[in-house]
Amino acid sequence: MRRIIIVAIAKNFVIGRANGDMPWDVKEDFEHFKKTTMGYPILMGRKTYNYFQKPLKGREHIIITRDPNFDPHFPEVKVFNNIEEGLKYAETIPKDRMFILGGGEIFKQVLEKDLADEMIISHLDFEAEGEVHFPKFDESKWEITDRDRRAQFEIVYYKKK
Ligand SMILES: NC(=O)c1ccc[n+]([C@@H]2O[C@H](COP(=O)([O-])OP(=O)(O)OC[C@H]3O[C@@H](n4cnc5c(N)ncnc54)[C@H](OP(=O)(O)O)[C@@H]3O)[C@@H](O)[C@H]2O)c1
Repeated sequence: MRRIIIVAIAKNFVIGRANGDMPWDVKEDFEHFKKTTMGYPILMGRKTYNYFQKPLKGREHIIITRDPNFDPHFPEVKVFNNIEEGLKYAETIPKDRMFILGGGEIFKQVLEKDLADEMIISHLDFEAEGEVHFPKFDESKWEITDRDRRAQFEIVYYKKK
């Protein structure tokens, strides 16, 4: 199963606000995100899940939290106490890929531990205000396989070398 990070990053590497808000509203990127992830398992940190308020349609949710009593309020949502267990569970789902949705804490650990195979990054054309950043990653470890220019951003497809 291919493990794919999907994220939108402002020019200054901001991905979100401390209160959970996304600092921008780019409809075309949301549509790209929805189309790309639809039908596949999605793994995310508890904070990102909480900000959604309810599960996204058509995608199996895997939530990571250190809280052994965390209640996702939706019985179909799976909860694990570390990233590796969540990824192991994803492997049991008969799909050829899964998406890692963030947020900042999850991206940092996934990159440090070398747990992702690919990244689909929407590089936004502007800087944004926010406290949560995408980690600086070692570009020499990744090859760019495709680029897709849109009105306010460019989608860059990365594959682990
Ligand atoms: N631009 C984008 O594409 C994008 C995508 C996703 C999110 N975001 C933004 O990112 C922000 C959220 O990111 P964040 O860094 O604050 O939070 P996060 O990564 O979504 O979630 C952090 C939480 O995940 C759990 N966690 C993290 N590492 C863990 C581990 N090793 N084992 C067990 N549990 C672990 C902990 O939950 P507990 O506290 O429950 O233990 C932790 O508090 C928001 O602003 C959101 O809008 C942006």
